[in-house]
Amino acid sequence: MTEQYGEPAIPITAEEYTAFRELFYRKTGIYFDDGRRYFVDRRLVACIREAGFTGFRGWYDVLRHGHPELMEAVINAMTVNETWFYREEYQFQALSQHILPEVLSRKKAGAPLRIWSIPCASGEEPYSIAMWLLENWPALNDVDIEIIASDIDTAMLQAAAAGVYTARAVHALPAEVRARYFAAQDDSGHYVLDQDVRDCVRFMPINVTDPDSVRQVGQVDVIFCRNLLIYFDEVSRRLAADHLFEVLAPGGYICLGHSESMSRISPLFRARRLGEVIVYQKPSGEG
Ligand SMILES: C[S@@+](CC[C@H](N)C(=O)[O-])C[C@H]1O[C@@H](n2cnc3c(N)ncnc32)[C@H](O)[C@@H]1O
Repeated sequence: MTEQYGEPAIPITAEEYTAFRELFYRKTGIYFDDGRRYFVDRRLVACIREAGFTGFRGWYDVLRHGHPELMEAVINAMTVNETWFYREEYQFQALSQHILPEVLSRKKAGAPLRIWSIPCASGEEPYSIAMWLLENWPALNDVDIEIIASDIDTAMLQAAAAGVYTARAVHALPAEVRARYFAAQDDSGHYVLDQDVRDCVRFMPINVTDPDSVRQVGQVDVIFCRNLLIYFDEVSRRLAADHLFEVLAPGGYICLGHSESMSRISPLFRARRLGEVIVYQKPSGEG
């Protein structure tokens, strides 16, 4: 590691990198292979400096003995949070056309319908669900619907709650949808999401690899778990699938990212083709 901005370099040895990645893997399910060394080292050095340490060892000893603030800071630094509004929009189509009508048909009248977006990163996905339903699902007026959004990265959850977005984040939205739900923020080039849409989503920090953490969400009818499992190894994927299965209502659905497949991870779910989309259903136990 070279010196930056005149500050002394903080070297990270191969053994230190390995020790850190094992600890980080146990905590988050995310496994950094050797090819990620440069990415991880740069962020590690920034975390060590920000926490006021001058070397890896002192920082790591505090971290591994359980220091929630240091752990939170390093998790926030290491996660990859890329997302945008109306990403993989065809799944929202499947939600309003197939999934919600089916789930509703099994629910007692008046019972709330709960949709969970995990991981939500900076909020584009759960807010997209809210906007999509406002735009495309007239039944919304008659249903008590709750959208919960979670991520392990607490800085992302704060950004999500603030509801201010870059042009890149809104690039895939139809112009009329963007105009309806966003206002330009001064001359910053940013867009501020309408308070009514922000009020549709409840954010809570949850780590999908920790069963106690996942249970805090309670039972949900639909889960969007997109573009998370790609960062996990097989063991963490299976753990996450087990935890999500547990909180999903019988007959409930889980939507994954387009490059992710539950069939390769867990036999618990039934793959269903709804129009162009493959989604995964928890058996309802009704034959
Ligand atoms: C690429 S974003 C996906 C966002 C959104 N679902 C999408 O598809 O656009 C991946 C997110 O997973 C979160 N994440 C990583 N490990 C996690 C874990 N163990 N539990 C919950 N969220 C996690 C990261 O913080 C990051 O915000």
